Amino acid sequence: MNLLQRGTLRKTAQLHRALIRPAVVLLTGLLGLAAACSGHAATCSIELEADDAMRFTPTHIDVPTSCANFTVKLTYSGRLPKLAMGHNWVLVKTADLDGVAKTAMAAGAQQNYVDRSDTRVLAATSLIGTGESTSTTFAVNTLKAGIPYAFFCSFAGHSPIMQGTLSLVP
Ligand code: CO
Repeated sequence: MNLLQRGTLRKTAQLHRALIRPAVVLLTGLLGLAAACSGHAATCSIELEADDAMRFTPTHIDVPTSCANFTVKLTYSGRLPKLAMGHNWVLVKTADLDGVAKTAMAAGAQQNYVDRSDTRVLAATSLIGTGESTSTTFAVNTLKAGIPYAFFCSFAGHSPIMQGTLSLVP
């Protein structure tokens, strides 16, 4: 090996250190970031089921603070007609549940049991019947840490039974 060849080899090694290693580090970083992003996206929504026994499944929802928005999809897989058994999903502070249930009842069937002028309603889906689905998306910064939240169905007579809890989690 002559001097020129050694020089070329050294330069190749330097080039490797200068370009290829940082490129590998960058690529690894990007892959990690992509994995982290898709992981977050998977937790920024939930699918709930409502049934003929006035139950939500699940009855608790965790909303990660890392989500900008959170989507709740509600499906009603029961057998009873909508007039007898309608379901929706209404999000409130736990302390506001009884008050919001009253304004919802006053709004009545014509307004799908949600008084949209009641600012204590943080999010609400439409009212659905058997075999139907609905969803709502709300900004996660609507929620504040350390405050208990609840969700309920505001259809006539359902609010005392058809409830669940929601928490903001890190
Ligand atoms: Co209901």
